[in-house]
Amino acid sequence: MKASVVGLGKLGAPLLGVLACQGVDVWGIDLISDVVAKIKNGVAPVPEPKLQELLTAHSGRIHATLDWHVAIGNSEVTYLLVPTPSAADGSFTNEYVLAAIDAVGQVLRTKPGYHLVVVNSTMMPGSTGGPVKDRLEAVSRKKVGCDIGLCYNPEFIALGNVVDGLLHPDFILIGESDPRAGAMLERICRIVVGQSVPVARMNFVNAELTKIAVNAYVTMKISFANTLGEICDGFSEADADIVTAALGQDSRIGRKYLRGATGYGGPCFPRDTIAFAAMARHVGIDASLALATHAINERQLERVTKIVAERTEANDCIAVLGLAYKPDTGVVEQAQGLMLAAALEKTGRRVIVHDPLALDAARSVLGPGVAIAASAAEAVGRADAVVVMVPCTEYKAFFAGWSGGGPTRLIVDCWRLVNPDLTSAGLRVLQLGRNATFNAREDGMACAAA
Ligand SMILES: NC(=O)c1ccc[n+]([C@@H]2O[C@H](COP(=O)([O-])OP(=O)(O)OC[C@H]3O[C@@H](n4cnc5c(N)ncnc54)[C@H](O)[C@@H]3O)[C@@H](O)[C@H]2O)c1
Repeated sequence: MKASVVGLGKLGAPLLGVLACQGVDVWGIDLISDVVAKIKNGVAPVPEPKLQELLTAHSGRIHATLDWHVAIGNSEVTYLLVPTPSAADGSFTNEYVLAAIDAVGQVLRTKPGYHLVVVNSTMMPGSTGGPVKDRLEAVSRKKVGCDIGLCYNPEFIALGNVVDGLLHPDFILIGESDPRAGAMLERICRIVVGQSVPVARMNFVNAELTKIAVNAYVTMKISFANTLGEICDGFSEADADIVTAALGQDSRIGRKYLRGATGYGGPCFPRDTIAFAAMARHVGIDASLALATHAINERQLERVTKIVAERTEANDCIAVLGLAYKPDTGVVEQAQGLMLAAALEKTGRRVIVHDPLALDAARSVLGPGVAIAASAAEAVGRADAVVVMVPCTEYKAFFAGWSGGGPTRLIVDCWRLVNPDLTSAGLRVLQLGRNATFNAREDGMACAAA
């Protein structure tokens, strides 16, 4: 099997490595020559666990080029993983996909034999079977469903886990122009993921709806758990972890994404939730569920900012631990930790930040007024108050071996990974979702349960 991958970014580069590791000869293509040069030299163009190892181990099967004729001409199937940025109304735009389709279609015009085009970028319902199919047929002068096949095959991966996510997905979603195209993609997917992973094949619109609905459902679950966490803060003796652990035992609910902690962020969850609302509005349906999910998410940042602001003075130094949108990634897009650091700086606090992977990305976004710490120990050692925003193993390990001391008098622990019994003179640990330690009354604040 020979495949080409268009767009060698956060998803495309790992897909290149994953296909190669399963024996597929791959040609990668991107508009950015530096990205292509990196792949040619066996260097990962994006930081993603296991990607560099794959590129090194399977370099004999991995090629990269700026020449569309080489990439498309040498392959039987072409994957498109180019951006689909959000428009002002929250829907996804198609211009990058259509530009890539133009380039692919030009080559297909003269390429003999059947060729399958697979769109992996997230699309709005109606896009693949509408403008994308129309453009592919117009430029290639070939008929989809006859000379060429077209599929929509969105990914459900999380950054930091892309390689494993591609190799071990919960299920494969395929929107297909016709059974031949769908069957060919299913065969290729089986090369990658094996025989046991369920494959859901359907028409384009159903697949486009499913992709957006999956993420909007997960964010609804996160916002539900966060609301539960807020409620737990107000009841003496309530503990969000005890409630959500029991709740998650119900097989209709499940435990994943049910913690009650910080809000969600990253390149997909926020915008897919808004796109779900846009999709509903488009057909005249009330989008209140997705909008409420989004509004609850927005207030989580305000909630943490307020907790810190009400317990510290204007000139205090606050350490924010965790700037990426989740553990194991350096991506800071819509990340709660990064936004908290910026919000606290605006209140006049001195802010020092740390993240295991995101410091470079954060440096370019945060102003020069925010100090960067090389380690969690350095950040905590300089701070009057510490906020734990990401539940990464480094912070768990740090706090397991930390017994207080230094200037720190307050820890706001959004993920409940600090020992709440940890006290030294004047040190207080507040854990979101746990009234036992999050004792609002102690501060003279309103408490629903009081
Ligand atoms: N990043 C995620 O976590 C994630 C998860 C699921 C789905 N998605 C979706 O996957 C798609 C790609 O996302 P990403 O995060 O990999 O994007 P990215 O920005 O990291 O990478 C996109 C790459 O495509 C290249 N590109 C743009 N236009 C091109 C063209 N016409 N021809 C060739 N290359 C071109 C860019 O130079 C870039 O290297 C988006 O639709 C996104 O919504 C992303």
